[in-house]
Amino acid sequence: MIEKQFQRLSDEIRTCNRCGLHQHRSRAVFGTGNPYAELMVIGEGPGEEEDKQGLPFVGKSGQLLDKILAAGGFSRDENVFIANIVKCRPPENRDPTPDERTTCLPFLLLQIELIQPSIILLLGGTALKGLIDPEGKISQVRGKWLKWEQFHVMPTYHPSALLRNPDLKKDVWEDMKLVVQKYRELVDPQHHSPHI
Ligand code: URA
Repeated sequence: MIEKQFQRLSDEIRTCNRCGLHQHRSRAVFGTGNPYAELMVIGEGPGEEEDKQGLPFVGKSGQLLDKILAAGGFSRDENVFIANIVKCRPPENRDPTPDERTTCLPFLLLQIELIQPSIILLLGGTALKGLIDPEGKISQVRGKWLKWEQFHVMPTYHPSALLRNPDLKKDVWEDMKLVVQKYRELVDPQHHSPHI
């Protein structure tokens, strides 16, 4: 059932021209993972590799994201859905503008409505600003549960920030521990995580 609605939404995104980002894209990036996941991960927007492949987080920061998720017992093939604030690559990997974020947001809101995850993990400032608070600062709210609509939202640093500054890894590790605890509390008390 969700699959059909996903297909319709994905077709719409693929042909979307609501903002200027469509002019430069090779492929729009809908998202990937289990549509019935209880954990949804939201990043910023496609980079070069994602734009080529039409899949989210397949470049360097994606490899790191997969490792972080795996440490918590999660994987995109099994129990996570991964999407972005904007579905098309901003040129030169610049941040999406507030207008671009707002124009693209209805697609993400529909994805969230269809998936109905228990927990949302927000990666970085753009995800925080785009979904929750345009004035939000990731360094101030990371590691704190936010209640948005009926969802438990954990903001943390974006993996590309960890690649630039490995000192941030310990904070993300602490945030992942909270996500695993909440997942056990809300979804599956037996959830297995290799390190938490
Ligand atoms: N960074 C993101 O925020 N999203 C992607 O899909 C890839 C890199």
